[in-house]
Amino acid sequence: MDVSWNRLPTVIQGGMGVAVSNWKLANAVSRLGQLGVVSGTAIDSVFARRLQLGDPGGHMRRALDQFPVADMVKRVWDTWFVAGGKEAGAPFKLVSRSTAEMKRAWTELMIVSNFSEVFLAREGHDNPVGINYLEKVQLPTMPSVFGAMLAGVGYVLMGAGIPLTIPGVLDGLARWNPVELNLRVEGINAGDAYALWFDPNDYVPAGNRPELTRPKFLGIVSSDVIARTLVRKANGEVDGFVVENHTAGGHNAPPRRVGKRAEQPAPGGRAIYGEKDRPDLEKVRALGKPFWLAGSYGSPECLKDAIGQGACGVQAGTAFAFCTESGTAPWIKDEVLRQCVSGEFKAITDCRASPTGFPFKLIVLKDSLTDLERRPRERVCDLGYLRQPFRDSNGRLRYRCAAEPVDTFVLKGGTPEAADDRQCLCNGLLATVGLGQVRGDGVELPIVTAGQDFEPVNRMVQRAGVKYSAADVLDFLLEGSAQDRRFAEPDCSTVRT
Ligand SMILES: Cc1cc2nc3c(=O)[nH]c(=O)nc-3n(C[C@H](O)[C@H](O)[C@H](O)COP(=O)(O)O)c2cc1C
Repeated sequence: MDVSWNRLPTVIQGGMGVAVSNWKLANAVSRLGQLGVVSGTAIDSVFARRLQLGDPGGHMRRALDQFPVADMVKRVWDTWFVAGGKEAGAPFKLVSRSTAEMKRAWTELMIVSNFSEVFLAREGHDNPVGINYLEKVQLPTMPSVFGAMLAGVGYVLMGAGIPLTIPGVLDGLARWNPVELNLRVEGINAGDAYALWFDPNDYVPAGNRPELTRPKFLGIVSSDVIARTLVRKANGEVDGFVVENHTAGGHNAPPRRVGKRAEQPAPGGRAIYGEKDRPDLEKVRALGKPFWLAGSYGSPECLKDAIGQGACGVQAGTAFAFCTESGTAPWIKDEVLRQCVSGEFKAITDCRASPTGFPFKLIVLKDSLTDLERRPRERVCDLGYLRQPFRDSNGRLRYRCAAEPVDTFVLKGGTPEAADDRQCLCNGLLATVGLGQVRGDGVELPIVTAGQDFEPVNRMVQRAGVKYSAADVLDFLLEGSAQDRRFAEPDCSTVRT
């Protein structure tokens, strides 16, 4: 049995996009022997904006100095770095939106930005680090994973869809083989297919190619059915699962009784979950793979309960999202923690907000501009991570997003109803980590997501105050033993040998 796999983490700090689980947070968690996970979603924009702010602290430069292809680094640096930072009132220069053509400059930025985030999360310790991607966001995946692998990422975690072809991509890249990903395209006939191609050898010259290790692949699933589908149908090894409840932050699986897509009516646009949405852990256990439980498992009692149910441990998000190391903007942390303690909080599962059609957890801070009903926003779609590829009536591959300007969306074959109440998560989530675009005389307003269960956050604040750290969260979860644990092996009887 592979030794590093033998040393399973008890706590996975969940991947939280955009850049909430940044390299600082993942580094702090992995340093303490649990699994820190960076978010790879929109990391190209995050990286390009950090450079446009003058690379405060010189962290990006430090990572880039370790990248194996100096020419590529130079091109990226020369394009994005602004010495001393851009003017405060000036807008950020935009990265080009993802397309199936995968233009060279775009691909290079994707590789380098993923490399940097993982490199920095791994700096100064020898423990594994993971990276999280969304299956829904397909166009950047292959160069992103490649960049993360160049930096030695140990785990790739992926949910928001069924990532059947990612294990094969990891296998291929580890051997420096060209890889392929099936692209989901709306409006194509049965039997037609689109694929994306990526050859790592086009980006790293022969003399500079380091040996790559195939990261472990953990599928983030909401049900035993999806876990089983992954095991049976994926084009490579699925090494384990995070079984996530609908109470988790970010995107959630649609409620079963509402149907497959959250497009279908739910009272007041809110998702309502029931018994049927509980994953059958007996069936997950029967698959014989390691698994972790997520979504309201962020307490020591829940961790014990998870281990009692055969899990290796838990994946926690919300408690980490507001700790000192996370990327959440300080003013949002302060406001969330204040309102959380005074019980003014509202977390809703909104079926309409995300243009992907998946339910999305929204935190509405009372009397603040995070209250979507109080903040009309002129629709602008200039980042486009959640655009859906479709084939138009002329047979051309095009892209649309239900949160783009309604008339544009309708011209592309969308319906006004499908566009109703959609929020621009791309711009809103970047604003939440302090990288919001400047528009006219204002800045994009944040969209805040978190899990439904704020009890762990409340308990953290009581224990350690509002400036609690990732180490405090681990100490809380592991009941004071965080410092002694170095991937201690839990009783994980289902683990393959
Ligand atoms: C701010 C925030 C952002 C999140 N973003 C993602 C994401 O990008 N991808 C993902 O797989 N899960 C995401 N999640 C879910 C977490 O990784 C984790 O599974 C979940 O929050 C665990 O439940 P808990 O919040 O009750 O601890 C996010 C959670 C939070 C709080």
